[in-house]
Amino acid sequence: MTERVVLAYSGGLDTSVAIPYLAEKMNAEVVCVAVDLGQGGEDMEAIQKRAIDCGAAESVVVDAKEEFAADFCVPALQANALYMDRYPLVSSLSRPLIAKHLVTAAQQFGGTIVSHGCTGKGNDQVRFEAGLAALAPDLKVVAPARDFAWTRDKAIEYAEAKGLPIETSKKNPFSIDQNLWGRAVETGFLEDIWNGPTEEVYSYTADPSQPREPDEVVLTFEAGVPVKIDGRSLTPYEIIDELNKRAGAQGVGRIDMVEDRLVGIKSREVYEAPGAIALINAHMELENVTVERDLARFKRGVDQRWSELVYDGLWFSPLKDALDALIRQAQKHVSGDVRMTLHAGKATVTGRRSEESLYDFSLATYDTGDTFDQSLAKGFVQLFSLPAKIAAARDARKG
Ligand code: ARG
Repeated sequence: MTERVVLAYSGGLDTSVAIPYLAEKMNAEVVCVAVDLGQGGEDMEAIQKRAIDCGAAESVVVDAKEEFAADFCVPALQANALYMDRYPLVSSLSRPLIAKHLVTAAQQFGGTIVSHGCTGKGNDQVRFEAGLAALAPDLKVVAPARDFAWTRDKAIEYAEAKGLPIETSKKNPFSIDQNLWGRAVETGFLEDIWNGPTEEVYSYTADPSQPREPDEVVLTFEAGVPVKIDGRSLTPYEIIDELNKRAGAQGVGRIDMVEDRLVGIKSREVYEAPGAIALINAHMELENVTVERDLARFKRGVDQRWSELVYDGLWFSPLKDALDALIRQAQKHVSGDVRMTLHAGKATVTGRRSEESLYDFSLATYDTGDTFDQSLAKGFVQLFSLPAKIAAARDARKG
């Protein structure tokens, strides 16, 4: 029986060319899997058809929008996940889910080899293959761009020689990856890190410096899950999608940074993640109101480690599972409303209310009605500072 290669298919030039190339090179049939993660743009049916037109034996489209939102974006939100304090893990979240659907398709269509379009210089190859290693260690992996030194020029040449039904002339200077949680843009003139991004780099966000009316939004959370916008009950997918539009229209969530890749390279990335940034701002503030101090302090370190693990491709791993358990436990009381103003590139929290609030007006107030016993503070401060005081005295003694 001919072997079958299951290819993660985007519909773009590189993975389209991979279809006849893999068939030839591996002497196999190609099964294409296109996963809808809310990336928008091209119609998924057109993508499905293109795979067949390029020679795929099977072509499937998986609508994973709600799954991606609920099982990947929401956990990232609960971890306030920002790699290097800034990047909301857009591509890092999608690869483990695509890997999962590749495994499902391999089982369904009798695939023994899995393939993706990543190069050998990036993080995404690691995320795909670490995911596959955990989910289906028996599947072999082939990555044409990496393993057969496949370049864009070669791909175009091959597509033209084979007469593949794909646009080879449209030259996009950037490498773009996008989904519901945001959009990543790299290469082209952005590789000179002194060059500022121009407006045409962006597509999820409007220019934040343009004058416009602010947009006020109230987000409701239940146990760390966003459940309503302005009192309307929506699914996580619908909430992120609506916030991408509303926060995007205000220019929220543009990020321009040099980041540390797992493979050791520093790379320049421009991101836009309007919904993710607005949601993380709101969620962080609701945690400030509802999570006890020591748990909140400890969780900040957990959040950072979680973000690094997921960035590094270890979504399916024991430490990630254990950190998930802590984060889930910490969400127990993260319920309530956050009001935000979306304007001029910022999502600013202006109000919060919660039945689980730990904010006690009568303890916090400086007005009448104060129930905080200030006389207790005197002794507390003396004992609290005692170790530092003794150490300072020792240092003074020693000169
Ligand atoms: N550097 C980001 C990451 O590792 C984004 C990579 C996205 N890929 C792309 N072709 N732009 O998560």
